[in-house]
Amino acid sequence: MTVPVRVVFLGPPGAGKGTQAKQLAEHFEVPHVASGDLFRKHQVENTELGQLAKRYMERGELVPDGVTISMVLERLQEPDAANGYILDGFPRTLEQARALDKALAEHQRSIDRTPLLQVDTEELVRRLAGRWLCSKCQRPYHEVTAPPKEKGICDVCGGELMQRADDQPDVVRKRLQTYEEQTAPLVGYYKEQGKLRTVNGDQAIEDVGRDLISAMME
Ligand code: AP5
Repeated sequence: MTVPVRVVFLGPPGAGKGTQAKQLAEHFEVPHVASGDLFRKHQVENTELGQLAKRYMERGELVPDGVTISMVLERLQEPDAANGYILDGFPRTLEQARALDKALAEHQRSIDRTPLLQVDTEELVRRLAGRWLCSKCQRPYHEVTAPPKEKGICDVCGGELMQRADDQPDVVRKRLQTYEEQTAPLVGYYKEQGKLRTVNGDQAIEDVGRDLISAMME
């Protein structure tokens, strides 16, 4: 096939979606569009949407579909997304997936590939507990498996690293439950469309990246 340009990443919290989506976006030279990052940006800017999203995010629940769909579809209309994008964290419900498909169909387009990163629950919890994130560019690090070159500083943009409030163990448990209840059904949705590609996310970051690229070209 030709290079897949419209990609939806699936996988539970901590599976490595952000880590891999950023690298894949660089590889295919398309933007990385992460709904969680967009909500966190709204919170930093203290917009009305940011305040609303915060109430759901700190409880490990999903932000309502209506505002989420509008926010992401608006982002996908920006010029840099004209030739494709790597979506990370969206869609997360069947309603969001159907809205995305409908918006794309209006322009005779569709999602090309949906990689699913599979990782054991215990490993997910361990990853989220040790995660640090750049406060400027949102690049994820891990204190053991993916540390920055200089403690507390982003290798790429020099931003300060911080921990996410929703990485506290009780919120992580709720996020995992929310994933099982509301997002896991998307696996069947994309499988039926023939777009799902399952990748073992429980390997070194470079090995996951290599397997992802070959799975995307199948
Ligand atoms: P969001 O920001 O999307 O979080 P998430 O889906 O829970 O995913 P994470 O960012 O926690 O994990 P990840 O898979 O990206 O892993 P990462 O690469 O960072 O959403 C947050 C909240 O926003 C939601 O709970 C919800 O409230 C709201 N929201 C967002 N989108 C929404 C939507 N569409 N609808 C409604 N609400 C929405 O990696 C994790 C750690 O592991 C890092 O430390 C990393 O360095 C490390 N790591 C990565 N890969 C490996 C590896 N192979 N080996 C070892 N360590 C690794």
